[in-house]
Amino acid sequence: MKLPILYYGNPILRTKCQPVAAITPEIHAFIQDMIDTMKANRGQGLAAPQVGIPFAIFIVSIPEIDEERNLHYPDTRIYINPRLSHPSDELSTETEGCLSIPKIWAEVTRPKTITITYQDIHGQEHVETPSEELSRVIMHENDHINGVLFVDRLSKQERKKIEPELERLKKATSQKHKRT
Ligand code: CO
Repeated sequence: MKLPILYYGNPILRTKCQPVAAITPEIHAFIQDMIDTMKANRGQGLAAPQVGIPFAIFIVSIPEIDEERNLHYPDTRIYINPRLSHPSDELSTETEGCLSIPKIWAEVTRPKTITITYQDIHGQEHVETPSEELSRVIMHENDHINGVLFVDRLSKQERKKIEPELERLKKATSQKHKRT
């Protein structure tokens, strides 16, 4: 089931998420809803607070695009109670966007790779050092778990470029809050 996404300006996006104490059938159902929501929005990752649940869960799936511009998700990865470590000294700069900050993209500098320790849906712990591409999405999604958004990580110059659009989005979000 597709869930509504929260937008920039919603205070839930700024909360530090709680660890998941027990991976219950309700958590499994919620993760399936996260997957449905990510795919319906053509995203490549989604964190639980983006759909209003401040738990330390995110999913990542790098889609493949076919000739008809359909997206296929060959490998959806689920990370519960993630911890990042060993950021590489080497950095890279890439354009990022976010389902909670629609239509705004900016250049973000991050370590090239990290190591992630996490639990899978069975509670089993794993330690992995993913590819550069996956590492970047993981760092972006892990930021959500800590109430951090990619727009917090921009150079002054990059931030200035998107500031008016960001302010507009924030205003629209707070007006929506007042109405509902
Ligand atoms: Co995001």
